[in-house]
Amino acid sequence: MRPQQTFTILGVETSCDETAAAVVQAGAGQAIVRSSVVASQIAEHAPFGGVVPEIAARAHVELIDGVIRRALDEAGLGWTELDGVAATAGPGLVGGVMVGLSAAKAIALARGLPLVAVNHLEGHAVSARLGGQIDYPFLLLLVSGGHCQLLDVAGVGRCRRLGSTIDDAAGEAFDKIAKTLGLPYPGGPALERLAEGGDAGRFSLPRALLGREGCDFSFSGLKTAAARVAEGLSAPEDRRDLAAAVQAAIARQLAERTERAMSLYLAAHGGGDRRLVVAGGVAANGAVRRALSAVADKAGFSFSAPPLAYCTDNAAMIALAGAERLALGLTDGLDAAARPRWPLDEAAALANPTHVPGRKGAKA
Ligand code: KG4
Ligand code: ZN
Repeated sequence: MRPQQTFTILGVETSCDETAAAVVQAGAGQAIVRSSVVASQIAEHAPFGGVVPEIAARAHVELIDGVIRRALDEAGLGWTELDGVAATAGPGLVGGVMVGLSAAKAIALARGLPLVAVNHLEGHAVSARLGGQIDYPFLLLLVSGGHCQLLDVAGVGRCRRLGSTIDDAAGEAFDKIAKTLGLPYPGGPALERLAEGGDAGRFSLPRALLGREGCDFSFSGLKTAAARVAEGLSAPEDRRDLAAAVQAAIARQLAERTERAMSLYLAAHGGGDRRLVVAGGVAANGAVRRALSAVADKAGFSFSAPPLAYCTDNAAMIALAGAERLALGLTDGLDAAARPRWPLDEAAALANPTHVPGRKGAKA
């Protein structure tokens, strides 16, 4: 790899229900997003109350070429100005992952560009760096629809898992509880809107794992309790107060477990690197951000979250992860596999698969 300061990377993301492409320039300083195109499939999946894998894979095939074209056009760049192409290679819905990864491989082959196969979770891990300079190491709370974990991030490809959910992910809990409140998919943002101005103290909900050792999460008890309360409610202000209580309970648990992870993190890094980062779709939630920011303040940590557009799935974060890998000379062959499961900290996931493992191993 020739030594160079800045890399211009095309990123491609197709692991769930967003078909996305972006061009990012990244080097020693602040990353610059030249374009970030996200074609959401929410309308296609909404009638089914969640993402239907076959519909997603087909929609990715239809959208991918146009989305990549738009990303280059909006960046004002041609193929020859790119230094590499990065695509999500997992974890995710494998039919969709294959679409984006195959498109990236075709571009790499046709244009003679290096390919970087990016772990979607690593994309989320670097996403806050799209908004400002954040040095490694940092403590990361990754909260999305499919994942809920605390990670000690020492650098690109160097993550240690400190805790993860033993049942649902935080976004999954938001989505399922929103459904019992009659809200449309995706439930997280809808529940946040409903909760506005609500009285979070009116309904008491269980505080899972409170005071329990370690930094794992659990949301299934909250989900059951909220469903039971929701059954008896119909007045708009009752639903609003329940939404506020649910949001506060999720934010409280995330903050409490993060506070515990801080001491594990400090034991590894000492006091000089007190940085907390939140990423993933749930990082868009205002109550969650406020609760984490308060915990960070108390412990003397800086607190960063990605710009709102880069909390939920996007390709700018995949391009940035690709640029950081390329700068380290980490590239992949055209035989790189699409992986439905691909934990960031493979050693920890194998030793202690807290998220119920399937036949092929731990998901997260
Ligand atoms: O990161 P993401 O786009 O996809 C995954 O990789 O899973 O996260 C999507 C999740 C969904 O569960 C969605 O309901 C949740 O993030 N989410 C929110 C908010 N915006 C998105 N949850 C709570 N409040 C929000 N404002
Ligand atoms: Zn995601």
